[in-house]
Formats: sequence, structure tokens, C-alpha cells
Amino acid sequence: MFDCFGRKIDYLRVSVTDRCNLRCAYCMAEEGIALLRHEDILRFEEIAGVVREAVAIGVTKVRLTGGEPLVRRGIVTLVAMLHAIDGIEDLAMTTNGIRLAEYADALARAGLRRVNVSLDAVDPAHYAAITRGGDVRAVFDGIRAARRAGLNPVKLNCVIQETPEEPDARAVAAYAAAENLEVRYIRRMNLAEGEFSVVIGGSGGDCVHCNRLRLSSDGMVRPCLFSDIGFSVRELGPREALLRAIGEKPECGSSSHAHFHTIGG
Ligand code: 5AD
Ligand code: SF4
Repeated sequence: MFDCFGRKIDYLRVSVTDRCNLRCAYCMAEEGIALLRHEDILRFEEIAGVVREAVAIGVTKVRLTGGEPLVRRGIVTLVAMLHAIDGIEDLAMTTNGIRLAEYADALARAGLRRVNVSLDAVDPAHYAAITRGGDVRAVFDGIRAARRAGLNPVKLNCVIQETPEEPDARAVAAYAAAENLEVRYIRRMNLAEGEFSVVIGGSGGDCVHCNRLRLSSDGMVRPCLFSDIGFSVRELGPREALLRAIGEKPECGSSSHAHFHTIGG
């Protein structure tokens, strides 16, 4: 389906949880964040229902995000439920990779096609500092397991301050080259101040070509990362929420009070 500005909307990003097992400083406050209540989080059947309607109106690409999608209990079951929906050509996930070694095989068997793994540094101390305690070796294990499981391609997402020439970003590039992985660099953004940036080496941050919608874990369909507009699938029903979101998709983003851990970036 096309929006008012002629953009073909065929990509839905689904945040399955607002929780995460890391605490990246640019994403979450150290003391934690106000978490959604259990009953406010969409059940798997509800998520599958939204995805089914989305596919019916032209979505062909679905990406699971978080928070961290692999901390949602039963995530493999959800992947299988979505894989069973006719018309999805690309089923992907963005993960921090910490639990990927444990899940890669089961995810691939359930029908996940590919993963993007967030990796801002390869030096263990730098990684631990950025993520407030994460173990980068678990991520390396996860990346290896993902490739072994046949998830393809495995891409890296690297959040940078300003440029890909920063030392940590260069070290990630060297690791990626050695492992034959693609990297996308994402400038650290402040949604509230409308600091959106183009994703270097990927899509995103390009309003003219933006093809995406987002579903938050509490069931809001949001047409733009840089806008507070959202439509509740529980109040309106999935079809109406999706159609309203497409109808109201802004020509260009401005600013939003959302947080990355609730809408998945
Ligand atoms: N700026 C840019 N990207 C962010 N992410 C989270 N917070 C930010 C931010 N402030 C994205 C990153 C990360 C993913 C989980 O969310 O791409 O890899
Ligand atoms: Fe977790 Fe990703 Fe946010 Fe880091 S950026 S705290 S890994 S959701």
C-alpha cells in the first residue's frame, strides 16, 4: 500500500518487549526505566493478528526488535507463528546478541531468515562500559552461532557518536572485515530533540524513501520514529490502526518523546 506521499509501505518493525538484558547509556537510564505492565504487552496471538493484517495490506518484510527480543519468553514460538503467515518474504530480527548462541539454531528452524546484531565496540572493557556490564564474548559466540545456524546475512549495527572513524567503530570494522560481516553505522540520536540521522550503509533516516511502520510492544502502530503519532490496535483493531498510521505518516519526521527501548529503533 502507498501512503499520501507515494511511499510504498511494505516493512513492519515489531517490538516484542520493552525489556533488555543490557543498559546501553544512549538507550536506557542506568537505574532502569518505567516498564510496561504485563497486561499491556501484546500477546503472541495479537502480534500475529497485526502482522496478518499488515501483510494483507502489502507488508512483505517483518523485523522483530525490542528492547531485546530474545528476553521475551517463547520468542521462538512467535517466530514460528509469523513464519506461518503467507506473504512474508523477509523475517528478520535485531538483537544485542547476548543470548543468540543459545537461540540461533531454534530461531533458524522456526523460520527466521536473518539477524542484525548490535555491536558498538569489540574491546571487552569498552563494550562493558557502553552496555553497562555486557560481555562482548557472548556476542561473538552469538554471531558465530547465527552463521552456523544459517541465518544469512548476519549484519552488525554499530552506534557511533559522530563518525565511523572513531576508534571503537574502526575496531568493529576490522572485526567485521575479518569475519566477512557487513556493518551499518548509526549516529547516536536524541529522539526528543529530533536528531535523526541517516544510517550509513543501510536504509533508515531517509524520509523520502521511508517504507516502514512500527508496532510497539503495547500495541501502538507508529508511522514515524520521529513523531508521537500512534494508533492502538486494541482500541481500533489491527486493520484500522494500520490504515490510520499509513494515512497519517508524516512526510518527514520532527521529534518524539518515545524511547528506543520501547519502539526498537
Ligand atoms: N541512537 C541511535 N540508535 C539507537 N538505538 C538505541 N538507542 C539509540 C540511539 N539513541 C538502536 C541501535 C541499537 C538498537 C538496539 O537500537 O541501533 O543497535
Ligand atoms: Fe538493550 Fe539495545 Fe537499548 Fe542496548 S540499545 S540497552 S542492547 S535495547
